[in-house]
Amino acid sequence: MRERVRARIEELHPQIVERRRDLHRHPELGFEERRTAGIVAEWLGALGLEVRAGVAGTGVVGRLRGLATSSGARRTIALRADMDALPVQDKKRGPLASEVAGKMHACGHDAHTAMLLGAASVLAELRDELPGDVVFLFQPAEEGPGGAEPMIAAGALDGVDMILGQHCQPSLPVGEIGVSRGAALAATDAFELTIHGVGGHGAYPHLATDAIVVAAQVVMALQTIVARNLDPLASAVVTIGTIHGGYNFNVIADVVELRGTVRTLDPHLRDAMPARIEAIAAGVCAAHGARHELEYHRKYPPTINHEVGVALVRRVAGEVLGAANVRELPPSMGGEDFAYYLQEVPGCFYWLGARHPHPEQEGYALHSPHFDIDEEALKVGVQLLVEGALEHLLKGAGPNAAA
Ligand code: NI
Repeated sequence: MRERVRARIEELHPQIVERRRDLHRHPELGFEERRTAGIVAEWLGALGLEVRAGVAGTGVVGRLRGLATSSGARRTIALRADMDALPVQDKKRGPLASEVAGKMHACGHDAHTAMLLGAASVLAELRDELPGDVVFLFQPAEEGPGGAEPMIAAGALDGVDMILGQHCQPSLPVGEIGVSRGAALAATDAFELTIHGVGGHGAYPHLATDAIVVAAQVVMALQTIVARNLDPLASAVVTIGTIHGGYNFNVIADVVELRGTVRTLDPHLRDAMPARIEAIAAGVCAAHGARHELEYHRKYPPTINHEVGVALVRRVAGEVLGAANVRELPPSMGGEDFAYYLQEVPGCFYWLGARHPHPEQEGYALHSPHFDIDEEALKVGVQLLVEGALEHLLKGAGPNAAA
């Protein structure tokens, strides 16, 4: 069957490339993916899938019911793509460039969507041989505020017992993938910290409480969480991304607002971070007679792969790409709302090698205004999705199911 799948993907490749380029030229931000969702729903409908559109706003769920009978447990695997673009101005030139000012597929979600459509086409043609179902999840707003959680609430994972998701990775060449055992990506929490002093004349500091001086010490003291409070073998990031305060060169500021992000891989460490930030802010402020307010926002949880999902991806990718091309990667401190699916069902999120053929020209990093991929990666991505689904469904079906 593998050769048949490979040949079919080869035939479909021009269509998948064309679809990806069209989506690339027409990027839509999170929860605005109406054009994209329309294309997806039409494609899945034409394949004869059961299609639910408008899931969690602009999400689309397609279900392919396999027609083969199963002597073992009947399984259902979900394959997920994200559809949203970023508020980035495309700096590429030429026919592929975004046609929408200030919006761009700078994270490859156009490719993710096109690959999942390709996988749906291939698997739909194999439905007579599938002893289980495949659910195709096209979710909105991965870049924020998050489409996975509302998709799950809307029943996207009903009956699903395995989920796979892939993401283009420009640091890996086409033909390689990267998989992390356990934690793959970090929790992406955020906070706003406001420091209140007493304003005054720049010449009379003794009559004021300078919120800027206090804020400067808070910023530095927060660095000690990672440097001095954490086990050196644990991982976390505390980044202050913005700091705003003050009115004029000769005025002492009464208030400074800080915003930051906190990244953690371990759920217990994640839980402990707000109290550390609170204690440091409170202590520094108290030392200077200032006060503070902390607002802490728990965003995406850490993306933690399941051993059974990692094993599935490694086995399939090892056979399709060769074991030497399956790289074991350490976790990244970036985040992904795929995390929510993995809190519900076993699965794996992996990186698909997609390095552009000419990366030296413009640094094709994720979220860069020059981001682009090698479209040969689309073939590999479709094949891994298809083979992953076949492996999961067929393994549960036959007399050897116990293996
Ligand atoms: Ni992304």
